[in-house]
Amino acid sequence: MQEKKKAETKIESMMDRNEEPNDKPNPNAEPQKTSLKEILEIDYPIIMAPMFLVTNVEMLVEAINGGIAGCVPALNYRTLPELEEAIKKVRSLTPGKKGLGINLIVNKSNIKFPAQLECCVKNKIDFFLTSLGSPQSVIDACKGTGIKVFCDVVDVGYAKKCEGMGCDGLIAVNS
Ligand SMILES: Cc1cc2nc3c(=O)[nH]c(=O)nc-3n(C[C@H](O)[C@H](O)[C@H](O)COP(=O)(O)O)c2cc1C
Repeated sequence: MQEKKKAETKIESMMDRNEEPNDKPNPNAEPQKTSLKEILEIDYPIIMAPMFLVTNVEMLVEAINGGIAGCVPALNYRTLPELEEAIKKVRSLTPGKKGLGINLIVNKSNIKFPAQLECCVKNKIDFFLTSLGSPQSVIDACKGTGIKVFCDVVDVGYAKKCEGMGCDGLIAVNS
């Protein structure tokens, strides 16, 4: 099982404090949930990392029943019915548990993106992890649904853009 360690630290950092990296915290800022445990309603602040062609239903079920979140690339499923079946199977094998995430490639290289987004929202997953592009349409689609959106970012500038769009957390990608 892989741990998505990079998620924990960044998610709990600047975006939830409404501050510039070197600013003092704003005492009038609304208190927000900053812990990955609270945001995802899981037992331990860990995300099992999505791995293209590797992550499968069995791994997701073990992760989620173990009290952490699990994330699978949508592209691990060749068709939408297969994606939908996987989501339903994980749900049926993890009763009462949260932490089911789907990793979406959100740029034009993924021609299935809009349909994958719609399928996951319809099936009420717990969170998206967006890669390679603007997460705006994902964030918009999740408004009012309770589905959280964490965005891959490669620098502070991009992190601030995602914060401005209203994402729930950041994944600090490094090499
Ligand atoms: C085989 C493999 C496939 C991966 N595929 C994806 C992917 O599809 N999407 C993604 O966001 N990260 C992908 N990653 C990166 C992992 O999600 C994770 O961020 C990376 O392995 C660092 O985590 P670690 O330090 O726990 O290994 C992949 C990693 C591996 C090893």
